[in-house]
Amino acid sequence: MSFVRYEQKDFVGILTIDREKALNALNTEVLADLEAAVDAIDAAKTRCVIITGAGKKSFVAGADIAAMCNMTKEEGRAFSARGNAVFRKIEKLPMPVIAAVNGYALGGGCELSLSCDIRIASENALFGQPEAGLGITPGFGGTQRLARTVGVGRAKEIIYTCRNVKAEEALRIGLINAVYPADQLMGECLKLAGRIAGNAPIAVRQCKKAISLGLQMDIDSATALEPELFSACCGTEDQRNAMTAFCEKRKHGPFVNR
Ligand code: CAA
Repeated sequence: MSFVRYEQKDFVGILTIDREKALNALNTEVLADLEAAVDAIDAAKTRCVIITGAGKKSFVAGADIAAMCNMTKEEGRAFSARGNAVFRKIEKLPMPVIAAVNGYALGGGCELSLSCDIRIASENALFGQPEAGLGITPGFGGTQRLARTVGVGRAKEIIYTCRNVKAEEALRIGLINAVYPADQLMGECLKLAGRIAGNAPIAVRQCKKAISLGLQMDIDSATALEPELFSACCGTEDQRNAMTAFCEKRKHGPFVNR
C-alpha cells in the first residue's frame, strides 16, 4: 500500500499524501512513497503539479514524532538529509508545483509547502514550525526556505517561538498566495494549475529556472542567466506560433510543448 496517491487530470498531476490517521505525518515510508511518486511524474505530459494531504483536517502535520523519539545523532542526520533530499527534488521539478494546503502544515508540513512554487490554503490551514518546542530544529529545509519566503526576522520569530500562523496571517506575510473556503480549495488550485498549463510549457519551465536559480546568484550572474533561458525559448514551435498569431492579429492555437 502506498502512502501517496497520484492522479493525472489533463496536464495537471495531483499528488496526495495519504496517511490520514496520522494526519499525513511523514515517516521514512511516506518519504519513500513521495519520492517514488515524484520520480514517476511524466514531465512530457505534466505542466503543473498540485500537492495536497488526504482528508479535511491536515495537509501534513509534520515529520513523524513517534519515529523520531529515540533517534540517535546519526539517525537524526540521515532522516533530516532524507527529507531534505526529497523536498529538494520537489523544488527542482521542471514544472511549477502548487501546495494545496488543506489544514495543518506544521513542521515538515510547512517545509513541504515551502518546497513548492506557490502555496494556496484553505481557511482552516495552520502553519508553524513547532520543532524547538520538541527539542529539535526544523529538519526538512524550514530554517532556509521560511527565511527566504517571509524574511529573516519573521522566520526567526516564528521558529524561535513555535507559534502557529493562521491562514489569514500567512496571506498577509506572503507565506501563501491565496486563501479559500475549504470546499473551494482544490477547485481553485485546479483553476490556477490549468491557467499555468495553458501557457507555453517550455517558457514556463525556463521562467521557473530563471527565478529559482537566479535567486541563489549575485545580480550579475543572474542577469547573465536570463538571456540563456530566454534564448532557449526562441525558435520553439510554441514561440513562433504565438508571436506569428499576434502579428497576424489572430488567436494562437494550443501550445504543443515543442
Ligand atoms: N507525528 C506522528 N503522529 C502524529 C503527528 C506527527 N507529527 N501529528 C499527528 N499525529 C497523530 C497523532 O499521534 C494521532 O494519532 P493517534 O490517533 O494514534 O493517537 C493522530 O495523528 C491524530 O492527531 P491528534 O489526536 O493529536 O489530533 P488533534 O486534532 O488533537 O491535534 C495537531 C492535531 C495539533 C496537528 C496535533 O496532532 C499535533 O500537534 N501534531 C504534531 C505537530 C508537530 O509538532 N509537527 C512537527 C513535527 S517535527 C518535524 O516536522 C521536524 C522536521 O522538520 C523534520
